[in-house]
Amino acid sequence: MTGMLEGKSSLVSGGGGGIGRASALAFAREGARVAVADIDPDTAEETVAMILSAGGEAIAICGDVSCDSEMKAIVERVAAAFGRLDCAFNNAGISGYQVEAAGLRTAEWPEASFDRMIAVNLKGVWLAMRHEIRVMERQGAGAIVNTGSIAGLIGLPTSSAYVAAKHGVIGLTQTAALEYAPSGIRINAVCPGYIRTRMTEDAMRRRGPAILANTPLARMGEPEEIAEMVVWLSSDRASYVTGAAFNVDGGWLAY
Ligand SMILES: NC(=O)c1ccc[n+]([C@@H]2O[C@H](COP(=O)([O-])OP(=O)(O)OC[C@H]3O[C@@H](n4cnc5c(N)ncnc54)[C@H](O)[C@@H]3O)[C@@H](O)[C@H]2O)c1
Repeated sequence: MTGMLEGKSSLVSGGGGGIGRASALAFAREGARVAVADIDPDTAEETVAMILSAGGEAIAICGDVSCDSEMKAIVERVAAAFGRLDCAFNNAGISGYQVEAAGLRTAEWPEASFDRMIAVNLKGVWLAMRHEIRVMERQGAGAIVNTGSIAGLIGLPTSSAYVAAKHGVIGLTQTAALEYAPSGIRINAVCPGYIRTRMTEDAMRRRGPAILANTPLARMGEPEEIAEMVVWLSSDRASYVTGAAFNVDGGWLAY
């Protein structure tokens, strides 16, 4: 039986942890060659080792998605190593506690925290698409998935810049999808709810019971449950899907 991504060349940013690692493993399981990019080279190498030991093909690339020259180098490295880029999952991201803004309301956010959040979670997605689209346009085909969030669709107290960035990701996704549909490039977003990763440890410590009480499925999601949506959106089975944002949130947004 062939995999859903058999023979494809893929890039996963933030592939050293959480949703990115689970997606990189799922891409490899489905037959793709995977470039695992992360700002933390050790965790990217760990993901690659997991893929290789499962019989897959992968390379690790270290880089910061918020830096144009590094993002350009990441995409060039994938194209050089695999000859093309079919699927890109722009997933690297940070949350409020990683920019010293945990629990702060809008007027309390330090400017530097706001700027870093937007640089990684919004500008990083734009920079990634900018370089990926150039490669995919030359090929006349490609599929991009950006990581949004339920925070890209509603407001969430104390997550100001995160919410702003994720709303921006949805808008960028829709706009780029319109622009590059004629070039054969599909561009979608996945919007996770509360998923069990390092990112949510702080929020779960502070307000875990309230979060679970708001989740119809009454549990956190697992990174692998996001990966399944990302694999499908990246595959030819989603050939008529572009410009869309898919919630994988245990029913959170159904309220
Ligand atoms: N966990 C959740 O509940 C949840 C919910 C909605 C959206 N998301 C989004 O999912 C994505 C992945 O988050 P996660 O939960 O897996 O978190 P995580 O912290 O486990 O993984 C994020 C990865 O991104 C990497 N990274 C951070 N900044 C980077 C940069 N500047 N350049 C390159 N790599 C960088 C980290 O090193 C890490 O490996 C993020 O975009 C996040 O906003 C997560």
